[in-house]
Amino acid sequence: MYILGIESSCDDTSVALLDCSDDAFVVLAEKTAGQVDVHKKYGGVVPELAGRMHAENILPVVEEVMNEWREKMGKKNALPDVIAATTGPGLITGLLVGAEVAKNLSYLWNVPMIAMNHIEGHIHSVFINNHFPISSLQFPALCLIVSGGHTEIVLMRDFGEYDLLGKTRDDAAGEAFDKVGKLLGFEYPGGPKISKFAAEGNTTAIPFPRPMMSSDDYDFSFAGLKTAALYELRDRPLENEQEKKDFCASFEQAIVDVLVTKTKRAAKEFSVKTIILGGGVSANPKLRAGLQTMTQEISNVRLLIPSTNYSMDNGAMIAAAAYMRGKKKEFTAWQDIVVNPNWEVYDK
Ligand code: KG4
Ligand code: ZN
Repeated sequence: MYILGIESSCDDTSVALLDCSDDAFVVLAEKTAGQVDVHKKYGGVVPELAGRMHAENILPVVEEVMNEWREKMGKKNALPDVIAATTGPGLITGLLVGAEVAKNLSYLWNVPMIAMNHIEGHIHSVFINNHFPISSLQFPALCLIVSGGHTEIVLMRDFGEYDLLGKTRDDAAGEAFDKVGKLLGFEYPGGPKISKFAAEGNTTAIPFPRPMMSSDDYDFSFAGLKTAALYELRDRPLENEQEKKDFCASFEQAIVDVLVTKTKRAAKEFSVKTIILGGGVSANPKLRAGLQTMTQEISNVRLLIPSTNYSMDNGAMIAAAAYMRGKKKEFTAWQDIVVNPNWEVYDK
Protein backbone atom coordinates (compact mmCIF):
# COMPACT_ATOMS: atom_id res chain seq x y z
CA MET A 1 0.00 0.00 0.00
CA TYR A 2 1.51 3.32 -1.07
CA ILE A 3 0.60 5.96 1.53
CA LEU A 4 1.19 9.70 1.39
CA GLY A 5 1.53 11.09 4.93
CA ILE A 6 1.10 14.78 5.76
CA GLU A 7 2.04 16.26 9.15
CA SER A 8 1.59 19.94 10.08
CA SER A 9 0.35 19.95 13.67
CA CYS A 10 3.18 21.99 15.18
CA ASP A 11 6.23 23.57 13.55
CA ASP A 12 7.23 21.03 10.91
CA THR A 13 5.64 20.77 7.49
CA SER A 14 6.53 17.15 6.79
CA VAL A 15 5.43 14.91 3.94
CA ALA A 16 6.45 11.34 3.15
CA LEU A 17 5.54 8.55 0.79
CA LEU A 18 5.79 5.05 2.24
CA ASP A 19 5.46 1.59 0.81
CA CYS A 20 3.68 -0.24 3.65
CA SER A 21 3.05 -3.95 4.05
CA ASP A 22 2.72 -6.39 6.95
CA ASP A 23 6.46 -7.01 6.66
CA ALA A 24 7.95 -3.52 6.41
CA PHE A 25 7.30 0.20 6.17
CA VAL A 26 9.74 1.63 3.65
CA VAL A 27 10.15 5.37 3.14
CA LEU A 28 10.40 6.01 -0.62
CA ALA A 29 10.41 9.82 -0.51
CA GLU A 30 10.23 12.41 2.26
CA LYS A 31 10.75 16.08 2.89
CA THR A 32 10.41 18.31 5.94
CA ALA A 33 10.35 22.11 6.06
CA GLY A 34 11.11 23.14 9.65
CA GLN A 35 10.39 26.52 11.22
CA VAL A 36 12.67 26.57 14.27
CA ASP A 37 14.63 29.58 13.00
CA VAL A 38 11.44 31.66 12.94
CA HIS A 39 10.09 30.57 16.34
CA LYS A 40 13.33 30.56 18.35
CA LYS A 41 13.34 34.37 18.49
CA TYR A 42 10.16 34.08 20.59
CA GLY A 43 11.33 31.15 22.75
CA GLY A 44 8.52 28.87 21.54
CA VAL A 45 6.12 28.17 18.68
CA VAL A 46 3.93 31.14 17.69
CA PRO A 47 0.71 29.59 16.27
CA GLU A 48 -0.11 32.40 13.84
CA LEU A 49 3.38 32.35 12.33
CA ALA A 50 3.35 28.55 12.21
CA GLY A 51 0.11 28.57 10.18
CA ARG A 52 1.49 31.06 7.69
CA MET A 53 4.73 29.12 7.22
CA HIS A 54 2.85 25.83 6.73
CA ALA A 55 0.75 27.53 4.05
CA GLU A 56 3.89 28.77 2.28
CA ASN A 57 5.73 25.47 2.48
CA ILE A 58 3.21 22.71 2.05
CA LEU A 59 2.65 22.64 -1.71
CA PRO A 60 6.35 22.74 -2.66
CA VAL A 61 7.02 20.00 -0.09
CA VAL A 62 4.20 17.77 -1.43
CA GLU A 63 5.36 18.39 -5.00
CA GLU A 64 8.94 17.47 -4.23
CA VAL A 65 7.94 14.23 -2.49
CA MET A 66 5.56 13.24 -5.31
CA ASN A 67 8.17 13.99 -7.99
CA GLU A 68 10.85 12.01 -6.20
CA TRP A 69 8.54 9.03 -5.71
CA ARG A 70 7.22 9.10 -9.29
CA GLU A 71 10.75 9.16 -10.61
CA LYS A 72 11.64 6.14 -8.45
CA MET A 73 8.54 4.31 -9.68
CA GLY A 74 9.24 5.27 -13.31
CA LYS A 75 5.59 6.41 -13.55
CA LYS A 76 4.95 10.06 -14.28
CA ASN A 77 1.34 9.98 -13.08
CA ALA A 78 1.57 7.50 -10.20
CA LEU A 79 -0.88 8.13 -7.35
CA PRO A 80 -0.78 6.82 -3.78
CA ASP A 81 -3.42 4.34 -2.58
CA VAL A 82 -4.20 6.44 0.47
CA ILE A 83 -3.66 10.02 1.69
CA ALA A 84 -3.22 10.38 5.46
CA ALA A 85 -3.11 13.74 7.19
CA THR A 86 -2.85 14.74 10.85
CA THR A 87 -6.18 16.24 11.93
CA GLY A 88 -5.35 16.51 15.66
CA PRO A 89 -4.17 17.07 18.29
CA GLY A 90 -2.06 20.17 17.67
CA LEU A 91 -2.22 23.83 16.70
CA ILE A 92 -5.35 24.57 14.72
CA THR A 93 -3.45 26.97 12.45
CA GLY A 94 -1.20 24.16 11.23
CA LEU A 95 -3.76 21.34 11.27
CA LEU A 96 -6.07 23.31 8.97
CA VAL A 97 -3.37 23.77 6.33
CA GLY A 98 -2.39 20.08 6.18
CA ALA A 99 -5.98 18.86 6.28
CA GLU A 100 -7.14 21.26 3.55
CA VAL A 101 -4.32 20.27 1.22
CA ALA A 102 -5.03 16.58 1.85
CA LYS A 103 -8.75 17.12 1.16
CA ASN A 104 -7.97 18.87 -2.11
CA LEU A 105 -5.65 16.08 -3.22
CA SER A 106 -8.19 13.43 -2.20
CA TYR A 107 -10.83 15.15 -4.34
CA LEU A 108 -8.62 15.87 -7.35
CA TRP A 109 -6.93 12.45 -7.46
CA ASN A 110 -9.95 10.49 -6.28
CA VAL A 111 -7.77 8.82 -3.63
CA PRO A 112 -9.30 7.86 -0.24
CA MET A 113 -8.30 9.83 2.81
CA ILE A 114 -7.63 8.89 6.42
CA ALA A 115 -7.77 11.46 9.23
CA MET A 116 -4.84 10.60 11.49
CA ASN A 117 -4.23 11.25 15.15
CA HIS A 118 -0.77 12.75 15.78
CA ILE A 119 -0.14 10.58 18.86
CA GLU A 120 -1.10 7.43 16.96
CA GLY A 121 1.51 8.59 14.46
CA HIS A 122 4.21 8.77 17.14
CA ILE A 123 3.26 5.27 18.32
CA HIS A 124 3.77 3.88 14.79
CA SER A 125 7.09 5.65 14.25
CA VAL A 126 8.78 2.53 15.69
CA PHE A 127 7.93 0.55 12.52
CA ILE A 128 9.49 2.96 10.01
CA ASN A 129 12.53 1.65 8.13
CA ASN A 130 12.80 -0.79 11.00
CA HIS A 131 13.47 -4.49 10.99
CA PHE A 132 10.49 -5.02 13.25
CA PRO A 133 7.35 -5.75 11.19
CA ILE A 134 4.01 -4.43 12.37
CA SER A 135 2.49 -7.91 11.99
CA SER A 136 4.73 -9.14 14.84
CA LEU A 137 3.42 -6.61 17.36
CA GLN A 138 2.21 -8.38 20.49
CA PHE A 139 -0.58 -7.00 22.65
CA PRO A 140 -1.19 -5.58 25.13
CA ALA A 141 1.38 -2.92 24.39
CA LEU A 142 2.22 0.00 26.64
CA CYS A 143 2.93 3.30 24.90
CA LEU A 144 4.95 6.01 26.59
CA ILE A 145 4.37 9.20 24.62
CA VAL A 146 6.67 12.07 25.54
CA SER A 147 6.71 15.21 23.43
CA GLY A 148 6.56 18.99 23.71
CA GLY A 149 2.78 18.86 24.05
CA HIS A 150 2.11 15.44 25.58
CA THR A 151 3.27 13.11 28.31
CA GLU A 152 1.05 10.10 28.66
CA ILE A 153 1.00 6.38 29.24
CA VAL A 154 -1.49 4.65 26.98
CA LEU A 155 -2.42 0.97 26.97
CA MET A 156 -2.80 -0.32 23.42
CA ARG A 157 -5.07 -3.37 23.49
CA ASP A 158 -5.12 -3.82 19.72
CA PHE A 159 -4.64 -1.72 16.60
CA GLY A 160 -6.70 1.43 17.08
CA GLU A 161 -7.76 0.46 20.62
CA TYR A 162 -6.26 2.67 23.27
CA ASP A 163 -6.95 3.30 26.97
CA LEU A 164 -5.42 6.18 28.86
CA LEU A 165 -3.61 5.09 32.03
CA GLY A 166 -2.24 8.50 32.96
CA LYS A 167 -1.01 11.83 31.69
CA THR A 168 0.64 15.00 32.88
CA ARG A 169 -1.42 17.28 35.07
CA ASP A 170 0.54 20.35 33.98
CA ASP A 171 3.65 20.59 31.76
CA ALA A 172 4.67 17.91 29.29
CA ALA A 173 8.18 16.44 29.68
CA GLY A 174 9.41 18.15 26.49
CA GLU A 175 7.90 21.43 27.67
CA ALA A 176 9.84 21.13 30.97
CA PHE A 177 13.05 20.50 28.99
CA ASP A 178 12.34 23.52 26.79
CA LYS A 179 11.42 25.88 29.64
CA VAL A 180 14.46 24.94 31.72
CA GLY A 181 16.56 25.20 28.55
CA LYS A 182 15.33 28.77 28.25
CA LEU A 183 16.37 29.48 31.88
CA LEU A 184 19.84 28.19 30.96
CA GLY A 185 20.02 30.49 27.95
CA PHE A 186 19.58 27.75 25.31
CA GLU A 187 17.66 28.50 22.13
CA TYR A 188 14.29 26.79 21.55
CA PRO A 189 13.95 23.81 21.63
CA GLY A 190 16.06 23.35 24.74
CA GLY A 191 15.58 19.56 25.05
CA PRO A 192 18.30 18.46 22.63
CA LYS A 193 20.75 21.03 24.06
CA ILE A 194 20.14 19.93 27.66
CA SER A 195 20.71 16.29 26.70
CA LYS A 196 23.95 17.22 24.91
CA PHE A 197 25.30 19.04 27.98
CA ALA A 198 23.98 16.29 30.26
CA ALA A 199 26.13 13.70 28.49
CA GLU A 200 29.22 15.10 30.24
CA GLY A 201 27.60 15.93 33.56
CA ASN A 202 27.15 14.31 36.95
CA THR A 203 23.58 13.08 37.38
CA THR A 204 23.77 13.22 41.20
CA ALA A 205 25.20 16.75 41.54
CA ILE A 206 21.83 18.35 42.35
CA PRO A 207 19.07 16.40 44.16
CA PHE A 208 16.12 17.54 42.04
CA PRO A 209 12.69 16.23 43.14
CA ARG A 210 11.06 13.29 41.31
CA PRO A 211 7.46 14.61 41.21
CA MET A 212 4.71 11.99 41.58
CA MET A 213 7.19 9.16 41.07
CA SER A 214 5.64 7.12 43.86
CA SER A 215 2.01 8.18 43.48
CA ASP A 216 -0.30 5.22 43.00
CA ASP A 217 -1.59 6.42 39.62
CA TYR A 218 0.04 6.91 36.23
CA ASP A 219 -0.18 10.68 36.13
CA PHE A 220 2.78 13.02 35.89
CA SER A 221 3.59 16.58 36.95
CA PHE A 222 6.64 18.46 35.74
CA ALA A 223 5.77 22.07 36.61
CA GLY A 224 7.22 21.70 40.13
CA LEU A 225 10.47 20.36 38.74
CA LYS A 226 10.74 23.40 36.51
CA THR A 227 10.21 25.65 39.56
CA ALA A 228 12.85 23.70 41.50
CA ALA A 229 15.26 24.34 38.60
CA LEU A 230 14.40 28.04 38.68
CA TYR A 231 15.07 28.31 42.45
CA GLU A 232 18.28 26.31 42.15
CA LEU A 233 19.60 28.73 39.51
CA ARG A 234 18.53 31.72 41.61
CA ASP A 235 20.09 30.44 44.85
CA ARG A 236 23.24 28.87 43.39
CA PRO A 237 24.08 30.49 40.05
CA LEU A 238 26.16 28.28 37.77
CA GLU A 239 29.77 29.36 37.81
CA ASN A 240 31.33 27.42 34.99
CA GLU A 241 30.68 25.06 32.09
CA GLN A 242 31.06 21.91 34.20
CA GLU A 243 28.43 23.13 36.67
CA LYS A 244 26.09 23.74 33.75
CA LYS A 245 26.68 20.18 32.54
CA ASP A 246 26.05 18.80 36.05
CA PHE A 247 22.85 20.84 36.30
CA CYS A 248 21.62 19.46 32.95
CA ALA A 249 22.54 15.88 33.86
CA SER A 250 20.76 16.09 37.25
CA PHE A 251 17.66 17.68 35.76
CA GLU A 252 17.48 15.19 32.90
CA GLN A 253 17.95 12.25 35.30
CA ALA A 254 15.00 13.44 37.43
CA ILE A 255 12.68 13.38 34.38
CA VAL A 256 14.03 10.04 33.16
CA ASP A 257 13.66 8.42 36.60
CA VAL A 258 10.00 9.43 36.83
CA LEU A 259 9.19 8.26 33.28
CA VAL A 260 11.00 4.93 33.60
CA THR A 261 9.65 4.13 37.09
CA LYS A 262 6.03 4.72 36.12
CA THR A 263 6.38 2.86 32.82
CA LYS A 264 7.85 -0.12 34.64
CA ARG A 265 5.02 -0.24 37.16
CA ALA A 266 2.37 -0.01 34.43
CA ALA A 267 4.12 -2.68 32.34
CA LYS A 268 4.02 -5.08 35.30
CA GLU A 269 0.47 -4.27 36.38
CA PHE A 270 -0.96 -4.82 32.91
CA SER A 271 1.37 -7.72 32.00
CA VAL A 272 2.25 -6.07 28.71
CA LYS A 273 4.19 -7.88 26.00
CA THR A 274 5.51 -4.75 24.31
CA ILE A 275 6.60 -1.26 25.36
CA ILE A 276 6.56 1.44 22.68
CA LEU A 277 8.34 4.77 23.12
CA GLY A 278 7.25 7.74 21.01
CA GLY A 279 7.34 11.53 20.75
CA GLY A 280 10.18 14.05 20.42
CA VAL A 281 11.67 13.30 23.86
CA SER A 282 12.23 9.69 22.70
CA ALA A 283 15.40 11.07 21.05
CA ASN A 284 16.85 11.51 24.55
CA PRO A 285 19.70 8.98 24.99
CA LYS A 286 19.27 8.67 28.80
CA LEU A 287 15.59 7.87 28.43
CA ARG A 288 16.30 5.29 25.73
CA ALA A 289 19.01 3.66 27.86
CA GLY A 290 16.87 3.81 31.02
CA LEU A 291 13.96 2.06 29.31
CA GLN A 292 16.30 -0.54 27.82
CA THR A 293 17.74 -1.43 31.24
CA MET A 294 14.29 -1.48 32.81
CA THR A 295 12.87 -3.76 30.10
CA GLN A 296 15.66 -6.26 30.70
CA GLU A 297 14.63 -6.40 34.36
CA ILE A 298 11.09 -7.53 33.57
CA SER A 299 10.90 -10.70 31.52
CA ASN A 300 9.22 -11.30 28.15
CA VAL A 301 8.71 -7.67 27.23
CA ARG A 302 9.95 -6.24 23.95
CA LEU A 303 10.92 -2.58 23.83
CA LEU A 304 10.36 -0.71 20.55
CA ILE A 305 12.10 2.66 20.14
CA PRO A 306 11.91 4.82 16.99
CA SER A 307 15.10 5.57 15.14
CA THR A 308 16.14 9.11 16.12
CA ASN A 309 15.28 10.36 12.58
CA TYR A 310 11.64 9.60 13.33
CA SER A 311 11.47 10.68 16.99
CA MET A 312 10.45 14.23 16.16
CA ASP A 313 7.31 15.11 14.20
CA ASN A 314 7.39 13.68 10.68
CA GLY A 315 5.07 12.79 7.81
CA ALA A 316 6.35 9.20 7.64
CA MET A 317 4.83 8.31 11.02
CA ILE A 318 1.45 9.59 9.85
CA ALA A 319 1.60 7.35 6.78
CA ALA A 320 2.76 4.42 8.96
CA ALA A 321 -0.14 4.84 11.38
CA ALA A 322 -2.60 4.91 8.49
CA TYR A 323 -1.62 1.44 7.23
CA MET A 324 -3.76 -0.71 9.55
CA ARG A 325 -6.67 1.71 9.13
CA GLY A 326 -6.18 1.56 5.35
CA LYS A 327 -6.32 -2.24 5.45
CA LYS A 328 -9.65 -1.99 7.25
CA LYS A 329 -10.79 0.71 4.81
CA GLU A 330 -11.41 3.20 7.61
CA PHE A 331 -11.59 6.12 5.20
CA THR A 332 -13.30 9.48 5.71
CA ALA A 333 -14.83 11.31 2.76
CA TRP A 334 -13.00 14.60 2.28
CA GLN A 335 -16.28 16.47 2.85
CA ASP A 336 -16.47 15.02 6.38
CA ILE A 337 -12.92 15.77 7.52
CA VAL A 338 -12.86 18.05 10.59
CA VAL A 339 -9.73 19.03 12.47
CA ASN A 340 -9.74 18.73 16.26
CA PRO A 341 -6.88 20.43 18.17
CA ASN A 342 -7.79 18.45 21.31
CA TRP A 343 -8.30 15.00 19.80
CA GLU A 344 -7.03 12.40 22.29
CA VAL A 345 -5.73 9.13 20.86
CA TYR A 346 -8.01 7.12 23.17
CA ASP A 347 -11.14 8.98 21.97
CA LYS A 348 -12.93 7.10 19.22
O1 KG4 B 1 7.04 15.27 19.11
P1 KG4 B 1 7.72 16.58 18.92
O2 KG4 B 1 8.62 16.74 17.72
O3 KG4 B 1 6.67 17.74 18.86
C1 KG4 B 1 5.50 17.71 19.61
O4 KG4 B 1 4.55 17.00 19.19
O5 KG4 B 1 5.52 18.36 20.70
O6 KG4 B 1 8.54 16.87 20.25
C2 KG4 B 1 9.32 18.01 20.44
C3 KG4 B 1 9.87 18.00 21.85
C4 KG4 B 1 10.52 19.33 22.26
O7 KG4 B 1 10.00 19.69 23.53
C5 KG4 B 1 12.00 18.98 22.36
O8 KG4 B 1 12.72 19.75 23.29
C6 KG4 B 1 11.96 17.53 22.77
O9 KG4 B 1 10.90 17.00 21.99
N1 KG4 B 1 13.23 16.85 22.51
C7 KG4 B 1 14.06 16.40 23.47
C8 KG4 B 1 15.18 15.84 22.81
N2 KG4 B 1 14.98 15.96 21.45
C9 KG4 B 1 13.78 16.57 21.31
N3 KG4 B 1 13.96 16.42 24.81
C10 KG4 B 1 14.97 15.88 25.52
N4 KG4 B 1 16.07 15.33 24.96
C11 KG4 B 1 16.22 15.28 23.63
N5 KG4 B 1 17.30 14.74 23.09
ZN1 ZN C 1 4.74 15.26 18.11
